[in-house]
Amino acid sequence: MPLVAFYSKDDDVKLQNEWEKRLQVFYPSINLVSLLSDQAEKAITALLWKPPLQRVKTLNNLKALISLGQGVDHIIKNNVIDNKIPVVRIVDPFMAKSMSHWVILSVLNFIRDTFGYFDQQKTKTYKSRKELNFTTLNIAVYGIGAIGSVVARDLKHLGFQVNGWSRTRKYITGINCYNGKDKFKTLLKTSDIHICLLPLTSETNNIFDNSSFKIMKHGSCFINAGRGEQVDEEHLIENCKSGRISTAILDVYQREPLPKNSKLWDQKNIWIWPHVAAETNPETAAKQIANAIKCVENGKQPPNTIDRKIGY
Ligand code: NDP
Ligand code: OXD
Repeated sequence: MPLVAFYSKDDDVKLQNEWEKRLQVFYPSINLVSLLSDQAEKAITALLWKPPLQRVKTLNNLKALISLGQGVDHIIKNNVIDNKIPVVRIVDPFMAKSMSHWVILSVLNFIRDTFGYFDQQKTKTYKSRKELNFTTLNIAVYGIGAIGSVVARDLKHLGFQVNGWSRTRKYITGINCYNGKDKFKTLLKTSDIHICLLPLTSETNNIFDNSSFKIMKHGSCFINAGRGEQVDEEHLIENCKSGRISTAILDVYQREPLPKNSKLWDQKNIWIWPHVAAETNPETAAKQIANAIKCVENGKQPPNTIDRKIGY
């Protein structure tokens, strides 16, 4: 009977039971046990979201770690876990579409000035506001992998000019694809809307600080659903105050949950979402996770095992 150590959202038992039921549809004998329980010592696979890494480290029988999200930074951070243990991630088209919907919502809110209309309602003001011309706006999507490529294509279908940025060279029909540090700078300078969908690695940590914000066009829109650590939050606030960034829409933060005393809450042109842009869906992700667990049981490498050397 495959025993899987489970940890998500502060050891939530309800969530554990839901995942077990979903996984059993594809692998009936699966048994999930809490990562914190004694039984977990026997597990060869662990299914994890933001786990206490020191505990994971003590489980000597683990042969693979599966992230309960598309990102894996919460597992490999600080190199606590031996880099010989394979780390597997979810790649779910449902999540890519879900992210695409959130990004489109954000972009449209920016160009139609939804936030201005919300303000007007407070004073019962019935007045047209400026609509930005979408045909002349340039959008940069930083990170055009499983999620960013879907987002870029969907924005293109809405009539925007879309540029993508990746680490290695990419080719996506209808999208101007760039890679490399020089092109990053060019995109920062020439784009009106900046969308970060990068994984967190040593190269992308703090990638949006003053050295990036200060070369953006005045009045830019900045959208982040990658990871909070990619943004210097003090610098972002400074640039939102000066108007260089006219609107920032954030889903991820350096510290989550976003602390009550964070200044981000109070900055009037920053919009806060609580890390929900593309939540993992047990219904759509269960099949691939069950398959990954089966692979580990059979001594095979599961699909979507990440490259520990590049960090995603
Ligand atoms: P992928 O690994 O499929 O894609 C990552 C993209 O980022 C690739 O295009 C990759 O380039 C590019 N990239 C990585 N490092 C660099 C770099 N140093 N310079 C330039 N480009 C780089 O990841 P996903 O699309 O599945 O997910 C991306 C991230 O989105 C996750 O890691 C997670 O942090 C975040 N996420 C957030 C969610 C939310 O709800 N807020 C939900 C799900 C994910 P290349 O193509 O060359 O490899
Ligand atoms: C993920 C996330 O990485 O939800 O899947 O952030």
